[in-house]
Amino acid sequence: MPIIVEKLTHTYMPGTENEHVAVDNVSLTINEGEFFGIIGHTGSGKSTFIQHLNGLVQPTSGKVTVDGFDMSDKKQRQKGRALVGMVFQYPDYQLFDSTVLDDVAFGPKNLGQSEEEAKKSAAEAMKTVGLDPELFGEKSPFELSGGEKRRAALAGIIAMKPKYLVLDEPMAGLDPSGRRDVVATIDALRRELGCTVIMVSHSMEDVARSAERIAVLNEGKLYALGTPDEIFSKTQELIDMGLDAPQTARLAEALRQKGCDVPESIYTNERFIEWFRGLKHV
Ligand SMILES: Nc1ncnc2c1ncn2[C@@H]1O[C@H](COP(=O)(O)OP(=O)(O)OP(=O)(O)O)[C@@H](O)[C@H]1O
Ligand SMILES: [Mg+2]
Repeated sequence: MPIIVEKLTHTYMPGTENEHVAVDNVSLTINEGEFFGIIGHTGSGKSTFIQHLNGLVQPTSGKVTVDGFDMSDKKQRQKGRALVGMVFQYPDYQLFDSTVLDDVAFGPKNLGQSEEEAKKSAAEAMKTVGLDPELFGEKSPFELSGGEKRRAALAGIIAMKPKYLVLDEPMAGLDPSGRRDVVATIDALRRELGCTVIMVSHSMEDVARSAERIAVLNEGKLYALGTPDEIFSKTQELIDMGLDAPQTARLAEALRQKGCDVPESIYTNERFIEWFRGLKHV
């Protein structure tokens, strides 16, 4: 069963002079098992949108159902929410316990596991994200580096084994090797746990490789929805919209503007190299 979003609108501070429509009449379906990317420039409504997927905020109008559970109904929301794990944009907001292990164990404990079971689940989740529980378990979350904090926040969510894993800018603020670590961890999670991943990013590069379908938000509206091939065929439009296009897509676009016949499906390094090697010398 999917997540179905129907005509979702979210207005902040309605009726005041600061009224702001952050999500504007968005309809889409996220299918079980898929890797769904959401991109859009700063302030386009990405975080507001995904906070509806676990009922953290309520629609001004429209509806969200998670596996049939209506997220605006209090009782159904509890059931739907148990299926959705949300890793927030700022991991500091998510980490609050005195040790990393306790922090990661918080979720499973809340789901009714005993202290001992919860710590076991926590240690497993830490291993999955590449944080050795022996080394990091007793540290304070605030002693961790940026990348380690993100992994700890991710561990806290996957320890609850959610069906839908929602990640808000999981790569923000990380250096290239940190980004690669997070990507590898998410890919491994999909393989091992088979969960559906919904990943938000303002960088197309991050979603270009992994996502099977991508939604582009612009000023709260659903600007485009499709496969990476369909989305990156609009590279110039996306750049004009203020999005960070993958470097390779920019290069391909620049070459096209110089009259070079680069296919629109070239937007990752791997594809560029493959295409370039296949060129015949003239
Ligand atoms: N709690 C709030 N109260 C009022 N306005 C808000 C609130 N949260 C967000 N907004 C506004 O709603 C719009 C969408 O914000 P949102 O955080 O959803 O965007 P975003 O796409 O996640 O941006 P970013 O890429 O910077 O994370 C922005 O204009 C923002 O200023
Ligand atoms: Mg955001």
